[in-house]
This record gives sequence, structure tokens and C-alpha cells, in this order.
Amino acid sequence: MTRNPFYITTPIYYVNARPHLGHAYTSLVADVLCRFHQMKRQETFLLTGTDEHGDKVVQAAKAEGENPRTYVDRISGLFRDLLPRLNVRNNDFIRTTEPRHMAVVKHVLQKIYDRGDIYFSEYEGLYCFGCERFYTEHELEDGKCPDHETEPERIKEANYFFKMSKYQEWLIDHVQSHPDFIRPSRYRNEVLAFLKDPLEDLCISRPKSRLEWGIPLPFDDRFVTYVWFDALLNYVSALGYPTGERFLKFWPHAQHIVAKDILKPHGIYWPTMLKAAGIPVYQHLNVHGYWNVDKSKMSKSLKNVVDPLVLIQSYGLDACRYFLMREMVFGLDASFSEEALVARINSDLANDLGNLFSRTLTMTHKYFKGRVPETAPGARDKAGFHLEKAARETISEFEQAMASFAFRKALESVWEFINQMNKYIDVTAPWMLAKEPSQRDLLAAVLSNLMEGLAIVSALIYPVMPDTARTMQKHLGLDPRERFFELDGLGSFSRIRPGTPLPKVISLFPRIEWKKTRAESAEAAPHGEALKPVKPEIDLEILQKLDLRIATILKAEAIPGAKKVLALEVDMGEKRTVVAGIAQHYRPQDLTGKQIVLAANLKPAKIMGVLSQGMLLAAVDGGKPVVLTVDQPVKPGTSVT
Ligand code: MSP
Repeated sequence: MTRNPFYITTPIYYVNARPHLGHAYTSLVADVLCRFHQMKRQETFLLTGTDEHGDKVVQAAKAEGENPRTYVDRISGLFRDLLPRLNVRNNDFIRTTEPRHMAVVKHVLQKIYDRGDIYFSEYEGLYCFGCERFYTEHELEDGKCPDHETEPERIKEANYFFKMSKYQEWLIDHVQSHPDFIRPSRYRNEVLAFLKDPLEDLCISRPKSRLEWGIPLPFDDRFVTYVWFDALLNYVSALGYPTGERFLKFWPHAQHIVAKDILKPHGIYWPTMLKAAGIPVYQHLNVHGYWNVDKSKMSKSLKNVVDPLVLIQSYGLDACRYFLMREMVFGLDASFSEEALVARINSDLANDLGNLFSRTLTMTHKYFKGRVPETAPGARDKAGFHLEKAARETISEFEQAMASFAFRKALESVWEFINQMNKYIDVTAPWMLAKEPSQRDLLAAVLSNLMEGLAIVSALIYPVMPDTARTMQKHLGLDPRERFFELDGLGSFSRIRPGTPLPKVISLFPRIEWKKTRAESAEAAPHGEALKPVKPEIDLEILQKLDLRIATILKAEAIPGAKKVLALEVDMGEKRTVVAGIAQHYRPQDLTGKQIVLAANLKPAKIMGVLSQGMLLAAVDGGKPVVLTVDQPVKPGTSVT
């Protein structure tokens, strides 16, 4: 039987800000779904990318003192590089500034224009520069743009319009006759409510005099196209519309994931654009809620934007993936806090799953010399617990939940199974059975049942925690060549191989001690005093650019005529000269042999006539430099992280 391909997209992210937790979440959902559909032996295609045209990008580039081209390359790179760090396996990454995309936008515009659905007209309206779009009075809140809370400006200009109104009846009918076209239903209802009022035609151009950073209209190059008309087409341009093989294979199965902020462009503009262009509409629009931080919206001004890289570095990737998928009910808003993340890691991962895993394997090592136990025929069935039946029920619940984006429910059903197994250990008390030689068969059966159950758990958690799934399988002695990550037949209890030697037991998820953040400890400090950071906060990315190395001082010399600095000859895998301002506090002969920390990628600079290739780090205590050294000797050139 050939199964339908699965095509899923994330929004293409604006490059006017760097990636944060919200972007990471949407991309993760797409990855989790692809992995799940791969388990169902479907061919999958995950598309993501960046949205790079428009006023906002030009402004952001200006603010950083860069030209738009260099700027978009840099920020787009941040979004692209985040994906492997999240273990998101995208099949393509589309950028709206790529020729392959721009060609499709022009092609579609021309097609719709030729069909008579794009016309030229004078328009006067209320324009929000932040949103880059016109607003109707009706959409404003207290006369202000609901997103930017600023009053829009009244502007009058001639522009091109797309006859969106012509497709209103068709769209209402389509949404009504395809109940899961937009899901969950609250968002479908929102779109239907919006469609109760007459749709206005969509202004799809901006005069070049106002905006140059866009795709020129093929039929009038005095104008560039409106960002949404440009951006939405990425979903087909990346597949090689109109004749590309990927387009023909995947487009009929297209599903999009977006958050509620961009429901209207995806639920209204996009289907009507597709209809006008004669392209079949997508299958599903899946809409999730917003991640808030400690109940408020993430925003630069509130300084509460969560950097996913910092998070995974502190807590581990799989733990973060688990938390995000377990915590948010798809469709509703969720609140992020590190405290909640730590609580989940400790209870679900370290306690429930981690303990089950280490208890089972520790006992197997202890009682069966580290090998998968041999069991007498029929013994496992008699071992008093219908684990196999429970596993089948779990798999079916899991599959249903995953197929309907109910990730929390899917994980809950797996955890229920995990806890059934934890109870099974308590009830069967293998440590008691181990004391009775006559119970040896039963002991082997109990531990085998547990290992078999864990093998199933490893497969079910795979979409959400792929690395953990593989680690578990290795430690259960499963054959990595076998296709464990398939749902078909997963419920059969015959995966473990008696006699297989098992690797040393490890702890899957060590418990985390929750330390108060700086802000919280400041509140708790008896004198209300917190340690003030000396310099403004920076992004991890900036710190990561610093190449710190250990170097051994080979020779230190005074520089004639220089009172404050010494010239140091150091070995950091290669020989270098460094000039350091420590002459008034260190004698050259005391420095030889010391291992120091060197900022190794600093631009070389001439100091007192000597070329300094790096900078030595020192703590400055009351004006006196104290050279940083290492606790024990390390190889010169070792990097400091
Ligand atoms: N460029 C447009 C999308 C064009 S798609 C044809 C855009 N970009 S964006 O950078 O603003 O990304 C918005 C998307 O990022 C949301 O729809 C969602 O997927 C994700 N998120 C951004 N902030 C978020 C939260 N706080 N919470 C959850 N997801 C959020 O809109």
C-alpha cells in the first residue's frame, strides 16, 4: 500500500528580529509531525524559511548600520542555523530574496492579472507602517492599530488591487464544507465570523518611491508587491511550482502551521489567492496559540524574550522539546517559565521515565549479569500484568492524538503507560523475587516485560525526543538496524533479544536543582542588593564569537621605553607575541611557564611598536591586574568554553 505523502510548512519568519522561543516552537511542531508521519511510513517534506522583503526589514537593517542585503543574509543565517541545533530536519529553507521564489511570485501575479483579478485604482485609507497594511475603521481599537497601538496614518495613493471580494462566497462555502480546513475549530469560527462582513479587495502593491526592497510587479515596475502576496507564495515556490516534481507530489497534501497572529493572511488571503491563480487550496491550516512568558507577551521592550539556544544549552535539547510539546495545548496560549520547565524535567523525565529506565536496567545488570534475560516459554504472559494489552491501547491513543495535533494528550498517554510500569515494579517487587531461587523464571519474565515496554516507550517518544529514544534503544540492547520507529506492528512484544549484553546503566535525565534567577534572588536578598552587571546584557551569540585559548608563556620581556607593558612570547599551539599591561605588577621572570587565558581572535594591533596577537585576560582588583591561570596544566591551545 502506498501512503500519502505529508507536506508541512512553518511560516517563513521575518528577519527583522532574531529567532526566539515562539519561532522555535512552530518549527519543532513541524519536525515532531514529520517524524511521526515517517513512523507511519509516509514520505515527508518540511519547509521553513525567511521572509525578507518590506519596510520593516529596511528599517531593521538601517538600525544595525547595514545594507539590506548583508543584513538579511546575516539574520536569515541565524534562523537557518537554529534548525539543526533544535534537531529539526527541514527538507528545504526558502528565502523570499531567492531568484527561484521571485520568479514564481512574478509568474503568479501575471497569471492573476491576465485573468482580470488584479486592477489599478486610487485608494485612500488608514495605513499602519508597522504592519505595512491598510486598516478599516472597524479593525482598529480606539482608533489605533491593535498590534502596534499607534494611530494609523491617512494616506492616498494609486495602487494595484486583488479582487479578493470576488472569492468571498466561495471561501465561506469551502470553510463550511471542509470542517477541518482551519483547525482547531475556534480559529475556523474566527475566520467565518470575519467573513460575515463584506471582504474588501486587497491592496497588493507599494509604490517604489516608498519602498524599493520588494519584488517589482511584472506588469508595472513602478510598483513592488505587497509583502504578504510575496511571502505566502513561498509555500509553492519552494516546491518548484508550477511543474516541479516536488510540487506535483507534495502540494495536494499541503498543511500549514502558524500561530494565531497570522490567521487572517493564511485563512483568507492565501486561499483566495490560490483560487484566483487556479492552484488547488491547501488541505489544512493548523493554528496554535502564543507562548507568553510568566503571563505576559514576549517582547523586546519587556526584555523577556526567551532565546532557545540558551535554553537548550542549560537544560538539554530533548528536555526542552519535551516541555514545549507537553506544556502547550495546541491552539491555546501557554505560559513559559524556567521554573515550570525544571518541574517537568524533574517529575516526568527524571522521576517517571528516568527512574523506570534505570531501575529496570540496574536490576537486569544485577540479577542477570548485564544481559537481556532468557525467559521460559509462556512465563512472560503469566507474569501477572497485561503489559502487552496496555501497550496496544497506548499506541492507539498516541496515534490518534498525534494525528490531531494533540501533543499533550499523546505524551500523557505514554506517561500513563510509563507509570503503569512503575507500579508493576512496585507490585512485583523484583528485589524480593531475586531472593528466591524458585522465582528465577518469574524474575526474568518481569524484567523482560519491563524492557519490552521500555522499547515501545522509546519508539513513541521518538518524534519528540529523538536522541533520548536512540539512547534508550542502545541501552536496551536493541538492534539499531531494525526499524523500531515504525508504528505498524509496534505493539508486538518481541523486540528484545535474550542473551544480548547491555551497556553500562546511565541516568537518562539527572534531576535539576532549581536555582533562583538573578532577579528572584535580588528580591530575596536581605539588603535588597543584587550584583549589578557591569556591562549591558549581550546575546550568547556574541559571546560565542570570542575564541578564548589557553597559552603557555615561553618568555616575558620589558619593551624599551614602555613602563606599563610587557611583551610575552606564548605557545598556544602556535607561537604568538602578546603585549600585556602588567609590567607594574609582574616581574618578567615570574611569568615564564604560567598558563594564561588568551582572547585569541582579537584583531592584531601594534602596541609600543610590537604587534600584539591577542589579549591576556586578568581580573582587575582595585586597579591591580591578577592574571587568570588554570587549575591544572592543559595542552596549549585548548579552548575555553
Ligand atoms: N513573515 C510572517 C509570516 C509569513 S508566512 C507566509 C511572520 N513572521 S514572524 O517572524 O512574525 O513569525 C510569526 C510566527 O512565529 C507565528 O505565526 C508563530 O509561528 C511564531 N511565533 C512568533 N511568536 C510566537 C509566540 N510568542 N508564541 C508562539 N509562536 C510565535 O509573521
